Amino acid sequence: MNFWVEELSLLKEEGLHRELKRLESSQSPRVIIDNQEVIMLASNNYLGLSTRKEIKEEVIQVIEEYGTGSGGSRLTTGNYDLHEELESKLANFKETEAALVFNTGYMANLGVLTTVVGAEDVIICDKLNHASIIDGCRLSKAKLLVYKHGDLERLEMILKRSSKYRKKLIVTDGVFSMDGDLAPLPEIVELAKKYQALVMVDDAHGTGVLGKKGSGIVEYFDLKGKIDIQLGTLSKALGSEGGFVAGSKELIDLLRNKARAFIYSTALAPATIGASLASLNYLQSHPELIKKLWRNIKLLKDGLEDLGYDLLPSNSAIIPIMIGDTEKTMKLSKSLVEEGVLAPGIRPPTVPRGMSRIRVTVMASHSSEDIEEALDIFARAGREVGLIR
Ligand SMILES: Cc1ncc(COP(=O)(O)O)c(C=O)c1O
Repeated sequence: MNFWVEELSLLKEEGLHRELKRLESSQSPRVIIDNQEVIMLASNNYLGLSTRKEIKEEVIQVIEEYGTGSGGSRLTTGNYDLHEELESKLANFKETEAALVFNTGYMANLGVLTTVVGAEDVIICDKLNHASIIDGCRLSKAKLLVYKHGDLERLEMILKRSSKYRKKLIVTDGVFSMDGDLAPLPEIVELAKKYQALVMVDDAHGTGVLGKKGSGIVEYFDLKGKIDIQLGTLSKALGSEGGFVAGSKELIDLLRNKARAFIYSTALAPATIGASLASLNYLQSHPELIKKLWRNIKLLKDGLEDLGYDLLPSNSAIIPIMIGDTEKTMKLSKSLVEEGVLAPGIRPPTVPRGMSRIRVTVMASHSSEDIEEALDIFARAGREVGLIR
């Protein structure tokens, strides 16, 4: 019997089979996908930095100087001055003592969670935390307890009952990746203090988006010095690749020594580190990009609401249009692409059953014309599928 065929047909029967789309251009406001030009409303390149001329030029220089691959893991021969410069700038950006870069945000979550907790500890997670946090929790061997999304009463109840564990670690997304809303971080910090728990926030979608400087959710809620572990990615608003952890000098030293996801993998290539460095410098000297992003977020959200779409109450560059039914969601997404907008349908297992949605993201690099045209397409496609009048 061919197990794979059976499993694949099950996915197909349930409408959950996924296929890759092929992009033939950069992450610009308009992209070529499967030979067709569409308005890109699906990229995490929130500030448009991955296509900025000045940044590309700096990366070309880095390649000229350092070549392509890094040649080894950070603890052997792959630690460049560029890695250290980036880490020092990230620590400064996040206002922590130190930072450590991992090859992806996914690996940063695995690396940090398997290092800071173990079998005698408990991790307390929001139900909607990102898959990489869940995988890190599973690998860590700590007890995993989950509270309903944003439910502080439930979180407190779990904390009260967790006194038998050696360490209690509350872990939450800062911006939830499929809902676009924010964790109630000030209240979580209060509860952590009351019950002597540690707090870790994954700010993958807040970094470069939230706060005047774009430093993320800790800046947004004015919680400097109150979060034990901050995680971020370089792959979203910073337009590059890689993940990082920011925190105390001791935390970073421990990770350097014990995080297997850091130790046993070849360091990111100099060009990738160079791109992150150039992006971070660019963001710090052009904070107006953040204002432009927020102007675009408002324009698109207001327009979609005026059309009669049901939006989840997000507070980030992620704008989820709630549909519920998976078939209708995928129909709308298909119709949007045919009309000229790329906005993916998100369905189980990424979101719970009955909660399928279109996940729209917007970038600072979109013009008002891009957004107006996209809204016209949302109007046509929504009527075609019978979702709006
Ligand atoms: C909340 C969150 N954490 C971590 C990650 C993983 O980051 P990366 O794509 O850099 O691996 C993502 C996105 O993919 C995310 O949305």
